[in-house]
Amino acid sequence: MDLLKEIKKIESEAQEKFKEVENLKRLEELRVKYLGKKGKIAQIFSKMGQVEEDKKPIVGKETNILKNKIQKLYNQLKEEKEKELKADKLKSETIDVTLPGSKVNVGHKNPFTHIIDEVVELFLGMGFSIEEGPEVETEYYNFEALNIPKDHPARDLQDTLYIDDKYLLRTHTSPVQIRTMEKEDPPIKIIAPGRVYRSDELDASHSPNFHQIEGLVIDKDISFSDLKGVIEIFIHEIYGKERKIRFRPSYFPFTEPSAEVDVSCNVCKGEGCSFCSYTGWVEVLGSGMVHPNVCKMSGLDPDIYSGFAFGMGWDRIAMLKYDIDDIRVLYENDKRFIHQF
Ligand code: PHE
Repeated sequence: MDLLKEIKKIESEAQEKFKEVENLKRLEELRVKYLGKKGKIAQIFSKMGQVEEDKKPIVGKETNILKNKIQKLYNQLKEEKEKELKADKLKSETIDVTLPGSKVNVGHKNPFTHIIDEVVELFLGMGFSIEEGPEVETEYYNFEALNIPKDHPARDLQDTLYIDDKYLLRTHTSPVQIRTMEKEDPPIKIIAPGRVYRSDELDASHSPNFHQIEGLVIDKDISFSDLKGVIEIFIHEIYGKERKIRFRPSYFPFTEPSAEVDVSCNVCKGEGCSFCSYTGWVEVLGSGMVHPNVCKMSGLDPDIYSGFAFGMGWDRIAMLKYDIDDIRVLYENDKRFIHQF
């Protein structure tokens, strides 16, 4: 075929193809097709040997013109397409600063945490330190060392979640009293907050796992009035000075004498309502003077040392402080609830 004709054909074909280029990828394909090492222009040059001598300069010149034209076309389009790409990118990355921001979902402290922070702070201020004990306890620490003999009703399977013959889930934080007395010499002044377990059905006022705070003070010459003083400060600080306090004789195997402590009902201000079962009082804690047997078993001489202990439901403190009448809401972590505190 006449090379000059072929050059013309390639030119019109290239013009057509380049016109239709949509993106840089396609442009590169066309560059390879026409200007590449094995491209159409290179093919023409390789056919130069077959051209008659006198036509060689013309064919050569025309091929070079074509090559330059295509190269120019390519350069132009490349610049154009690159610009377009950049503009598109900028457009897709622009931020509309006038749009409303998306709300960051922030968590919130559970009322439990509020209470424990407050209680810990208060007791630290009175010179107490914090102790912890294991939630999986032995029968010895949970019962025996606390003067709870084998046949005591508190050991009933109804109340206690046993793991095996020896281990159980602690039913109260009182085992921490024993663990502390065993490892520390008096004066002892501790509180022990923690999780406890009982085989109770879950309802508005019971949960199979709940929280307690234990308190223990042991020294020489500790009397019941020391216990009363500490409890009064605690209740007035946490619930408010206007609350009335009542010590009611009670029984715990590990304290003697023992007392339960009530505060005047906040809902009815002591008048009597369903929250306080129409008594005007709500129970907040159990307490008493540490039983001499407990001291002895933990290696302390009850003739030298005496002390008091108290234990309270930490959940109950939260419920009484915030007038919450269902324990379950404390464990559900419903944000609509916990955001109120
Ligand atoms: N451990 C008792 C309970 O769980 C509470 C208590 C603690 C009572 C310390 C007296 C002294 O009910």
